[in-house]
Amino acid sequence: MTQIKNIGVYTSGGDSPGMNAAIRAVVRTAIYYGLDVTGIRRGYDGMIKGDLFPMDRQSVSNIIQRGGTILKTARSEQFKTVEGRKQAFENLKAHKVDALVAIGGDGTFTGAKIFGQEYDMPIVGLPGTIDNDLCGTDFTIGYDTAINTVIQAVDKIRDTAESHDRLFIVEVMGRDSGLIALRTGIAAGAEAILIPESKTDLQAVFEKLERGRKDKKSKIIMLAENGEAGDAFEIGRQIKEKFPNYDTRISILGHIQRGGSPSCMDRVLASRVGVAAVEGLMAGHRNEMVGLIHNEIAFTPFDNAIKRNIDINPDFLKIVDILAT
Ligand code: F6P
Repeated sequence: MTQIKNIGVYTSGGDSPGMNAAIRAVVRTAIYYGLDVTGIRRGYDGMIKGDLFPMDRQSVSNIIQRGGTILKTARSEQFKTVEGRKQAFENLKAHKVDALVAIGGDGTFTGAKIFGQEYDMPIVGLPGTIDNDLCGTDFTIGYDTAINTVIQAVDKIRDTAESHDRLFIVEVMGRDSGLIALRTGIAAGAEAILIPESKTDLQAVFEKLERGRKDKKSKIIMLAENGEAGDAFEIGRQIKEKFPNYDTRISILGHIQRGGSPSCMDRVLASRVGVAAVEGLMAGHRNEMVGLIHNEIAFTPFDNAIKRNIDINPDFLKIVDILAT
C-alpha cells in the first residue's frame, strides 16, 4: 500500500448544512497527521477545470457553524464522460493529489466509484445530503438541520391555518425519498403524510379527512416531492374537487430546507465522519462511504451506499394514523 501524502477534498451535488463542518474535519485531521490537503472548488467541475488550491488550518476557521459549502458545489455533466474524468485526473496529478474525500450524495458517489476504479484513486465519501437517502448511515449530514427547518416552518403555517380554518398541503424536498416528509409529518402533527415509498391512496386520505374531528378544521398534509399522486397543486386540485368546503392552501418549502446554520447533530456527525474518512484513507479504505450506524463509525462500499429503495419504517406511518385522529 502506497502512503498517502496529499488529500483532495470536494463537495458535490446539492449542498447541505454541515458540509463546512465536514470540510473542516477533513482538513484539520489531515494536517494533524502531517498530510497536505488540497481544496477542489465546485466538485467535479472544478476538478476538470483545475480549480484546486492548498488548504491549511486557517482556511477552515470559523466555518463549523456556517451553512452551504465554502468549496462551492455543482452537478457535473462533463465528469460523466471519459474525457472529463481524464482531464480531472491530470489536474489532480499536477497538484500531487493522491487520495480524495468526496462529500455529497448518490450522484457524487456514483462519479467517485467510476473514477476510483478507472484511475486506481483511493476515495472515501462522506454522506452530505438533506435527503437522508443513503444506505450505510443512519443519518446524512444536513438531514437533521433540514427537518428542523421544516418543522419550524410548519409550526408557523399551522398558526395561520388554525386562524383561518384552512387545510394546507406542505410540499417538502427529498428527490425520490419521503424521509424528510415522514419524520417532519410526525413532528409537526400532520393529518396525513404522502411519500413515494408507500402507495398513495388518495381516496383513503379523503376518507380520513372526512372522518376527522369536525371541530378541528385546520389540517396539514405533508407531501414529499415527486410522488406518484402528483405535486401539491395536483393534490390541492383534487381536494378542492372533493371538498369544495375546505379552504385549501399550498406551501412549497423549497430551498429554504437546504440552508441555515447546521444543528449540533449535523456538526457532530460531520466532525466524526470527517475524522474517520482521513483515518480510513490512511488505513487503506477506498471506494467506501463512511457513516454512522447505531452511533458507530461504519464503512460501506459506494455500491451499497447508493442502493435505492431505502426501507421505510412502517411504524412511522402507523404512528401518524394513530396520532392524527
Ligand atoms: O438532493 C438534494 C435536493 O435538495 C433534493 O431534495 C431536491 O430534489 C434537489 O436537491 C433539488 O436540486 P436543485 O437545487 O438542483 O434544484
